[in-house]
Amino acid sequence: MSKLVVGNWKMNGSFALLSDVAKTMDELRPQNVEVVVCPPSIYLNEAKCFLGQFATGGQDCSTEVAGAYTGELSASMLSDYGAKYVIVGHSERRMRHQESSELIAKKAAAAQSAGLTPILCIGETKEEKLVGATLQVLHGQLLPCLDANLDLQKIVVAYEPVWSIGTGETPGTDEISETLAWIKDWLAKQAKTTVGRVLYGGSVNGDNASSLFGLPEIDGVLVGGASLKVADLETIISAAEATA
Ligand code: PGA
Repeated sequence: MSKLVVGNWKMNGSFALLSDVAKTMDELRPQNVEVVVCPPSIYLNEAKCFLGQFATGGQDCSTEVAGAYTGELSASMLSDYGAKYVIVGHSERRMRHQESSELIAKKAAAAQSAGLTPILCIGETKEEKLVGATLQVLHGQLLPCLDANLDLQKIVVAYEPVWSIGTGETPGTDEISETLAWIKDWLAKQAKTTVGRVLYGGSVNGDNASSLFGLPEIDGVLVGGASLKVADLETIISAAEATA
């Protein structure tokens, strides 16, 4: 399975950035890496036009198909706009919007029903890490997936320690390997299936991409800030390609 590089633009970007990225990336046609750009949804159409060689994804979706939900977007609307993926359960949504793991599992199921691949984010806070609760937290975040009618073979799980997001701090590579292996094992045991792909996210950049892609357990990366910097994005994609 090819490695996955997902750029989460969060609430950043503009037509100017899209055209900048497009100019630099025009030549870059990775063979063994799948690149997914997740801009704010309002730019999805342009992202598809400007960056046709890459897939696109949403940053969130509703649990519902349609109806009186002001401000929400359904997974099928993202799909209408050509998106193939959607991020669900990002820690910024869990924390700022009080999204529960149950709600997030329903969003992932709604995404699958609309033909999208959900990228389910899980991860512990610094406090949880310091008291040794990381695996317990990940278990609690994954558990509702078992009741949500999800096809776990068609899901992407992104392990993103909350304390690592946007801080420049990352866990050691051994720690990342162990945690990714634990997630794969958890899914294999609980759901009696192998998970699609497991990614690492949190301060991934051009400097650490090679060592991350050197880890056999890593199926890809979820990149925030560095996905807005064309040079970093290029290095990350090349590092993924080199280990594919
Ligand atoms: P970061 O963000 O790469 O800026 O740390 C990752 C994320 O929030 O998905």
